[in-house]
Amino acid sequence: MINFKTTLLEKFQNFNAKIGIIGLGYVGLPLALEFAEAGYKVTGFDVDSDKVLKLTQGETYINHIPAKKIKEQVERQRFFATNDFSLLKEMDAIIICVPTPLNKYREPDISFIENSGKEISKYFKPGKLVVLESSTYPGTTEEVLKPFLDRPINEEINAELTCGKDYFLAFKSWKGRNPNNPDYTTKTIPKVIGGYTKDCLDVAKSLYDRVIVKTIPVSSTKVAEATKLLENIYRSVNIALVNELKMVFDRMGIDIWEVIEAAKTKPFGFQAFYPGPGLGGHCIPIDPFYLTWKAREYEITTKFIELAGEINTMQPYFVVQKISEALNDNNKTIKGSKILILGAAYKKNIDDLRESPSLKLIEILEDRGAIVDYSDPYIPVLPNTRKYQLNLKSVELTSENLQKYDAVVLSTDHDNFDYDLIYKSSNLIIDTRNAFKVKGLVNGKIYKA
Ligand SMILES: NC(=O)c1ccc[n+]([C@@H]2O[C@H](COP(=O)([O-])OP(=O)(O)OC[C@H]3O[C@@H](n4cnc5c(N)ncnc54)[C@H](O)[C@@H]3O)[C@@H](O)[C@H]2O)c1
Repeated sequence: MINFKTTLLEKFQNFNAKIGIIGLGYVGLPLALEFAEAGYKVTGFDVDSDKVLKLTQGETYINHIPAKKIKEQVERQRFFATNDFSLLKEMDAIIICVPTPLNKYREPDISFIENSGKEISKYFKPGKLVVLESSTYPGTTEEVLKPFLDRPINEEINAELTCGKDYFLAFKSWKGRNPNNPDYTTKTIPKVIGGYTKDCLDVAKSLYDRVIVKTIPVSSTKVAEATKLLENIYRSVNIALVNELKMVFDRMGIDIWEVIEAAKTKPFGFQAFYPGPGLGGHCIPIDPFYLTWKAREYEITTKFIELAGEINTMQPYFVVQKISEALNDNNKTIKGSKILILGAAYKKNIDDLRESPSLKLIEILEDRGAIVDYSDPYIPVLPNTRKYQLNLKSVELTSENLQKYDAVVLSTDHDNFDYDLIYKSSNLIIDTRNAFKVKGLVNGKIYKA
């Protein structure tokens, strides 16, 4: 009888395991390249044919992942992208990196995980490792994914499989790099892994240990899922706290940024978080509510998460109120004013628009009668999303263009904005990131929000 664990461990050790990555986005693509660079043969699966075509041609669609890196692995035949899910049957390890958004009722939408589960199930057979990397509520790996694998749809397998014996299942936490922090990459950030059984953990850990500097084992998939949520909730709550203090101190005429800089000098017990125009990205505005939803099943209301969500969601409205006050000081109103939003991405130096507060700002300002444009060197055109159809193109930052606007709002503090030019040429600046002060550019026409 085949010992599937030993066979997989040997394949991982000898780098002759075939790795399949489902979902080639911000998480899946860098991960696929990391495995390919380590020496594995990687097949990337995505339902988006445009992405598959681009990758096949050695092109990139994520700003911080150079095409050269992709091309190199494609040419070495270490990386291949496809939308043919039947190739899943050849994979030894399958890693799922599909989206986990909220639906319009702000409840978890795990349909992408279910769809991946179904695809895997169609081609599943004993001897494989499956790892979920999508952020989700504790219990998803076991309750949602495992049933697809225990009873494969694959007609060749006419039997119930035992997880931990016939196949192996794990959840892995933390994605790769933060594009704004070159000190850490997909490879160097420790990864927390939990297996459904001890053997599942051993098998998953053995694979990730070949490509990642440090893996942290935990006792179950649930603990690993909860670890990811704890980190996201921690940030959401702390950002909400400084956002609330920003609004209080603003009323008192105290600059929150100066307060944080001073507080940071305490060598222990305080970690700096910064206020902003609102939460963005795929994790912090969304993942905490996965726990909120699951907690209801246990008759618990997650008050901290809800409160943080409320305060963070309010921030674009606070910024709009500050814009209104700044315009008012100049005998203008939002209605009819020309307003330029600087930065569409949700954080600096990236091209990621997901949940970006800049989009919300544009929407609110347009609703109130402003004529709004944006400028973002990373995002030449605002693509239509499920929530927003803004139909805008990035405006070039020239002195002449800047002078046309009644107000310029710094929403995302990209490093490559020409702050001197903006400072000199704008009629009025609303700074949500304290960026001008940090650069020593201070005058009466800059308002903080
Ligand atoms: N584990 C972690 O620590 C961690 C960290 C950050 C993000 N995440 C999570 O990883 C997941 C992916 O995030 P992302 O930023 O890469 O998202 P993304 O939107 O950038 O990429 C997801 C990709 O999956 C593809 N896709 C959707 N449905 C598919 C299907 N059924 N089969 C194949 N491909 C499919 C999409 O076309 C897209 O290319 C999310 O759940 C996110 O919360 C996890």
